[in-house]
Amino acid sequence: MRLSANFHRIYTLMQRLYGSQENCEIHLEKLLLMLFEMYHLREESLKKVDRKREIEQDWLLSQELVGMSLYTNRFAGTLQDFKEKIPYLEELGVNYIHLMPLLEAPDGSNDGGYAVSNYQKVNPKFGTMEDLREITKMFREKGMCLMLDMVMNHTSDQHEWALQAKQGNPTFQDFYHCYENRSIPNQFEATMPQVFPESAPGNFTYVASLEKWVMTVFHNYQWDLNYTNPNVFVAMTQNLLFLANQGVDVLRMDAVAFTWKKIGTTCQNLEEAHLILQLMKACCQVTAPGLALLAEAIVAPEEVVKYFGLQPTSGYECDIAYHATLMALLWEASATKNTKLLYRSLENLPQKPYGTTWITYLRCHDDIGLGFEDQHIREVGYHPIAHRDFLVRYYSGDYENSTAKGAPFMFNPATGEARISGSLAALVGLENALKVNNSEAIEMAIDQILMLHAIILSFGGLPMLYYGDELGTTNNYDYLKNADEAYDNRWMHRPVIDWKKAEKRIRKSMLKKRGTGKKNSPESEIFNGLKHLIQLRKITSEFADKNSLKLEYCENSHLLAFLRWDSNGHKTLIMCNFDSKQHFAHEGILYRCGFFDRNKLVDRVTNKAPHFFEGNIEFAPYQFYWLSEQ
Ligand code: GLC
Repeated sequence: MRLSANFHRIYTLMQRLYGSQENCEIHLEKLLLMLFEMYHLREESLKKVDRKREIEQDWLLSQELVGMSLYTNRFAGTLQDFKEKIPYLEELGVNYIHLMPLLEAPDGSNDGGYAVSNYQKVNPKFGTMEDLREITKMFREKGMCLMLDMVMNHTSDQHEWALQAKQGNPTFQDFYHCYENRSIPNQFEATMPQVFPESAPGNFTYVASLEKWVMTVFHNYQWDLNYTNPNVFVAMTQNLLFLANQGVDVLRMDAVAFTWKKIGTTCQNLEEAHLILQLMKACCQVTAPGLALLAEAIVAPEEVVKYFGLQPTSGYECDIAYHATLMALLWEASATKNTKLLYRSLENLPQKPYGTTWITYLRCHDDIGLGFEDQHIREVGYHPIAHRDFLVRYYSGDYENSTAKGAPFMFNPATGEARISGSLAALVGLENALKVNNSEAIEMAIDQILMLHAIILSFGGLPMLYYGDELGTTNNYDYLKNADEAYDNRWMHRPVIDWKKAEKRIRKSMLKKRGTGKKNSPESEIFNGLKHLIQLRKITSEFADKNSLKLEYCENSHLLAFLRWDSNGHKTLIMCNFDSKQHFAHEGILYRCGFFDRNKLVDRVTNKAPHFFEGNIEFAPYQFYWLSEQ
């Protein structure tokens, strides 16, 4: 039934992508046979999940989901060790775990596992596929979800296909983009931007054993797959369904913007890249409809929404996408201490289809790209180049009064642009405050950390915490001692968890109060603060992502406000102060949101009434409210 429901889409998409190739029908047949095979290999327990999720299509939108992204080895050790840390995750309240790449990858440089040499084998350093299946089973029993990466744009140069290609096998050379001379590569280069201009300049690598130039958009050891070859599509879809059959709930479709290349274009976000995803999604709908796909497309805001499939409802392309725009804007507002650009950009964000959701996040294993629209930057009174330069310098601590300890990532001399590396704690100034032992600055940074998390937990979407941030973990400079990592400063924000230090999260005294001398550690303040917010999120039905979000205006450019509601009339108004100074918002905003009796208002976080000063709501530095009526 599922096949007949999706056959037309599969057929049409195959035709669109591969119809000009004479053996298209043969590939279609191969694809269908593979789908049958993968369906038959799917365990009954997973088929049960499929049936359940076909009925409860909103499962991803739930406010009860809270995520965390982590490296198995840096968080725990092996997959077996990871199992022992599950109670810690439960203590915090996270129930959707993204285990960073754990499939087989060569030793040494492997881009943190994003250079996969075998999609059907776990890296022996972490354990086995059996260990992974055990974890998915445990998760299912506990109602937790597991997300893994599907690195679909490229393989490692040590993947079997690449090895065969290097040995001169033409079938496998066709799996990649290989060219005898620079003629075609030069034509591509004329319009292709560079992802890693400092450490991996250019988009092609000369492979001596092959005597050819191979397309390597990321690092020279990551060979771009050639999706114009239907064999690549079928083989990668099989790998995807193989992972689905291990019990994975969501696949993070890595670097999806890059999968289709055309001379004369940027080779990003091309229509065919969307068709590839749509076809993969249709295949999943047949064999593993309980599996969701997350688009890792860190691209311009109006491009990102296209990865949801440009339909009024979900189910046609990816189900989830990173809200990279919100993430970058939150950092912009934190640096400028005003929300002008945040409002301007969010106001212009296209609506996403019902049933899809965002990953809302502050930090992840990657750098922070400053991908807002130049036009919006100009409209709020800044110069795009100067403003981005300010942000990079601010977060690198290279600006007046900045205590941030990040660093520029991949400065591109051709464009003058850079991105930003650094842990959350380093970027908000906690690392520096701890170093100089400035208790006021420590408190301020903690308040800012909690406020930023309060936003991603309430904005609408699946909040994804980044491991270590729940303890205020600072930068890790060990990468500089390791030649396989030193060239990539993203490693500074990929911590190894110190479990002794994590013990400090335990509250010393329930009577914690600032200024009483009985202070808890920063680890405890942050961990318990987040835990509380997570608990509240889970019981706040208006935080489910039903596209119920409205920006509200407070006539104070340091503040951000937005309203969330559910279909039963529950409402919460979220208000935050991005400044390190006290601010006020006129109470008129409350009436505009339908809160007519200010005496009934309560801040759900503190369970207290908000502070009023005359006709204004008062905000301490970095204070936030989750306001609703009692
Ligand atoms: C994604 C990953 C990043 C990696 C790249 C290449 O952007 O998040 O870490 O370097 O893909 O796989």
